[in-house]
Amino acid sequence: MPGIVIVGAQWGDEGKGKITDLLAEQADAVVRFQGGNNAGHTIVRNGKTWKLHLMPSGILQPGTLSVIGNGVVIDPKVLTHEIEELSRSRVDTQWLRISANAHLIMPYHLMLDDAGETKLGKLQIGTTRRGIGPCYADKASRLGIRVQDLLDEKILKKKIVAALEPKRLSLRPFAKDPRLDLQTITEEYLTYGHRIERYISDTSRLVLELLDADKVVVFEGAQGALLDIDHGTYPFVTSSNPIAGAACIGAGVGPKDIDEVWGVTKAYSTRVGAGPFPTELEGTLADEIRERGGEYGTTTGRARRVGWLDLVALRYASRINSLTALAVTKLDVLSGLDTLCVCTRYRGAEGAEFDYFPYHQTVLHHAVGEYVELPGWSEDLTGCRNEDELPAAARDYLQFVADFVRVPVALIGVGPAREEVIWTPASAEMAGGVGRLATA
Ligand code: GDP
Ligand code: IMO
Ligand code: MG
Repeated sequence: MPGIVIVGAQWGDEGKGKITDLLAEQADAVVRFQGGNNAGHTIVRNGKTWKLHLMPSGILQPGTLSVIGNGVVIDPKVLTHEIEELSRSRVDTQWLRISANAHLIMPYHLMLDDAGETKLGKLQIGTTRRGIGPCYADKASRLGIRVQDLLDEKILKKKIVAALEPKRLSLRPFAKDPRLDLQTITEEYLTYGHRIERYISDTSRLVLELLDADKVVVFEGAQGALLDIDHGTYPFVTSSNPIAGAACIGAGVGPKDIDEVWGVTKAYSTRVGAGPFPTELEGTLADEIRERGGEYGTTTGRARRVGWLDLVALRYASRINSLTALAVTKLDVLSGLDTLCVCTRYRGAEGAEFDYFPYHQTVLHHAVGEYVELPGWSEDLTGCRNEDELPAAARDYLQFVADFVRVPVALIGVGPAREEVIWTPASAEMAGGVGRLATA
């Protein structure tokens, strides 16, 4: 102990990468536990922007172990590319560890993701088309291929044949695609195996040993609570559980190994891809926030949908994650708006009111936000390093959020760079002494 989980409390892209990178400074290990390269985590350090997809956001911190846990689905082409890119930028990757039990995204998973979306037409989910869903489906069907299989040609080949067999019909349109040739896939994947062999390890044991030695381990979530396959806006979700409970499964630790759960939320909302979004804004205000916040996907470049902060959803995310603190990012983006709206309940079809996040898909699709209006501020916040330096209206906005969700705000983001942040007194009480008070 202590184990600290960082999760997205909205629909992803909340700024988890930046927060994880900050905490990594004082951590002994950073562990990714779910998702794959559908994630895009941005870190801005010394004027350079890093976009990580599979690599844990601790990789820029020398000496901090970066662990890809068993719950992650790995596209080895993307992984090896990311390792090479980091090495080219003189980032030492010797601290990387990859679970031998993590599942691999295979070329046919990419094809099936693509074909599935095309077939859905207007009903498509808007996946990142990185093969995430089909890979997790194979894992559940016990047809998955794992990192350890890369080290044995005979086993690898046998497993690819077994995995392809039940997919014949759905892969028929790709029958002549050279990417589906058994020998080609085997050779390509064996090469990846050679390249990553030195990083492969028993990561669950490794993390448990660190926790036993009282080291600080940060578990880095990808996506966000409302994209959770069980608790999110199904079927417009990802195919894993991005909530804190999944850190145990995807890293191989027990529930009692977790001391803190930090939920990252923007000061407003965004969503990329299809699905319900009760506080969505359209028109010039949405365009203005999108431009100011640079709301374009890190992975696919798609314009993100933009909306007001949804406190009904945030309170729900807090409950299903047992959040102990909030990190509120992008507060700087809201400067200059006269009035800010925060959603405190939903109104459904026929006037029904909801104080809680509705479980029923039809209800959720018709839900629209009802708002409390709070005064805005005009000051630029990017220079603030202490809560006292924030305009009173910005402080009141954060206090309203914390009171409504009943979780303290530990960290406030006032710009993309890692130093553009305010640590509040709540952060100083964090297990393991990882948080710290603002020093300005
Ligand atoms: P993640 O997927 O949760 O790691 O988030 P992304 O990296 O996909 O998206 C967050 C974006 O917001 C990135 O471009 C970050 O550089 C940026 N960002 C993070 N925190 C802040 C903040 O406090 N203010 C501003 N303006 N940008 C931020
Ligand atoms: P990070 O970690 C935002 C969304 C996709 C789509 C749905 C399913 O950067 O926050 P998938 O490819 O996972 O099957 O797509 O989930 N999605 C994300 N949205 N941030 C992400 O990751 C996302 N990863 C997946 O847009 O709506
Ligand atoms: Mg992202």
